[in-house]
Amino acid sequence: TGCKLVGCGSAVPSLNVSNDDLAKIVDTNDEWISVRTGIRNRRVLSGKENLTGLAIEASRKALEMAEVNPKDVDLILMCSSTGDDCFGGATLIQKALGCKSNPLAFDITAACSGFLLGLFSASCYIKAGGFKNVLVIGADAVSRFVDWTDRGSCILFGDAAGAVLMQACDIGEDGLFGFDLHSDGDGKRHLIAPFIENEGSSTSHFPPKGSSYSCLKMNGIEIFKFAVRVVPQSIEAALERAGFTGSNFDWLLLHQANQRIIDAVATRLEVPSERVISNLANYGNTSAASIPLALDEAVRSGKVQAGHVIAAAGFGAGLTWGSAILRW
Ligand code: ACO
Repeated sequence: TGCKLVGCGSAVPSLNVSNDDLAKIVDTNDEWISVRTGIRNRRVLSGKENLTGLAIEASRKALEMAEVNPKDVDLILMCSSTGDDCFGGATLIQKALGCKSNPLAFDITAACSGFLLGLFSASCYIKAGGFKNVLVIGADAVSRFVDWTDRGSCILFGDAAGAVLMQACDIGEDGLFGFDLHSDGDGKRHLIAPFIENEGSSTSHFPPKGSSYSCLKMNGIEIFKFAVRVVPQSIEAALERAGFTGSNFDWLLLHQANQRIIDAVATRLEVPSERVISNLANYGNTSAASIPLALDEAVRSGKVQAGHVIAAAGFGAGLTWGSAILRW
């Protein structure tokens, strides 16, 4: 059995936060942020919006494009590290979409590589048999974990959801070939948001007085160097497994973290800027949502067309990273 991508969708919160808006709360400015990152705006969840709502909207759009009835979905993979409920959100999406009563639905936590690992997982489920239509959702609200007094990190992130529908097909039509996936716990310390005991709470006292996750702490330079080092190698490995020689694919689609990372990887792979997909100026780093969000925009604007080959790569906290060669 093969598997192919048959639909995509995305959704973003209504509140837009510009670089100028951030300059009102931390010591920064539009020029610094634009030059160092390429980011100008990002969307942030507010009011009654939540991440599950965005994931549902993105999923509905993907199903509509694919012309697949929600009742025919067999598996829902919600790739997220910042969900509305720490026990997961995939089953809420299953309920809201009106899928049949017993599709499998669960969450995958792998930060900015989450969506890519979700895609690979979906292909394994399909190829193992028994799963025909798999919804892979990348959704994150990193704004919930951002320290809004830390100018080194708060400028980078935005909230969003993106989804694709992957479908079983004949092996000859396989749309997902060539993977390369890695992780490295040694680099975990460079990007964390750990669970901490609140003051006064201690494991030696029972019951504990309550505790929570701390804000995101990031060593930006280390993450930057890591991404520029591993991503080109990973894409090359995936291309080789897919039987490609050189960079003769149509589009380079990287996790949208920083325009300078995207440019450095494109230069290393000798991919001209016209073949690079980038939308982080409008949305910032949306973690697991960034690849499906950028894919959805590129498909709906007519950039990515049927039959085009995309080299996609995700990287981030964990550390985790990986690449996939896809045919749209
Ligand atoms: N505005 C103005 N000045 C700033 C800001 C800001 N927002 N942030 C930092 N600065 C200052 C610093 O204090 C420093 O000043 P100093 O020289 O007086 O000490 C100077 O600017 C340079 O700071 P650097 O940290 O060296 O800046 P750099 O060029 O490395 O850019 C950045 C920082 C944008 C964070 C970059 O390192 C980066 O993008 N790293 C990758 C981060 C990333 O992608 N993380 C997400 C991974 S994905 C995931 O899993 C969630």
